Parts: sequence; C-alpha cells; structure tokens
Amino acid sequence: MTNNDAHQLGNLGDLKDGAMRVFEDVGDYGIVVCRVNGELFALEDNCSHADTPLSEGRLRGHEITCPLHGTSFDVRTGAHSGPPAYEGVTCYKVQIEDEIALALPQKNDNKREDDSYGDVGDFFQTR
Ligand code: FES
Repeated sequence: MTNNDAHQLGNLGDLKDGAMRVFEDVGDYGIVVCRVNGELFALEDNCSHADTPLSEGRLRGHEITCPLHGTSFDVRTGAHSGPPAYEGVTCYKVQIEDEIALALPQKNDNKREDDSYGDVGDFFQTR
C-alpha cells in the first residue's frame, strides 16, 4: 500500500451494480461503498444533517437519498442536493490494487470548514 491514509476494503468483485456495502471500521461513522455503472464510490456513512446512516437510504444512479428527511448526496463528490442538509459529506476515492479495493479520503469542498450553525451537540443525532 502506497498511502498511509488508505483503508483496505478487500475484494469487492462481488458487489453488484446498484448495490451498497458498509464498512463500519473506517473513519468516525464508517463508510458506504457502492457500485454505479461498474465504478466504485464511497462516502462517509453519515448524513450531514442529523447523523443518520446513508446506507439505510436508497441509491439511484449516482445519488444516495437519506432515509430520514430526503436530502440526496452525490457518491462521486459527496455534494448534497439541498436542505435540510446544509453541507456535503466526506467522500473517498476507491482504487483497486491487486484486486483489493482501497478507500482514500478526499478533500471535500462541499463540507463547511466553519460551521456557522454552531455546535448543536447531540440534539440532532439519531444514533
Ligand atoms: S437526517 Fe438526512 S436529511 Fe435529515
């Protein structure tokens, strides 16, 4: 492995188009990996609105829709479609080395550096 920030996901050759798989041991909330049109994408498995697992939502094309309030997130970039979420989610680049999938965190311009909404503590958390 060439990148120390890469997370090994194993062989994902059996992950079918349109399917998702969760890896709970990556990052703070785990990641959800999905295959769309043969390509693998990965996002933090946590809606930026109220800490709900995106993997419990629906994948349609390149969009995962949050099961709680319906914001969707583009699996290619982590960008959100609009309210009630007010920012995107962390996105990972998935690359294959020797048939093993690796997830590498990407800088996400869709996440706010300065959360002007302030710290809401655990008020919105659902898990
Ligand atoms: S928790 Fe995802 S849109 Fe509200």
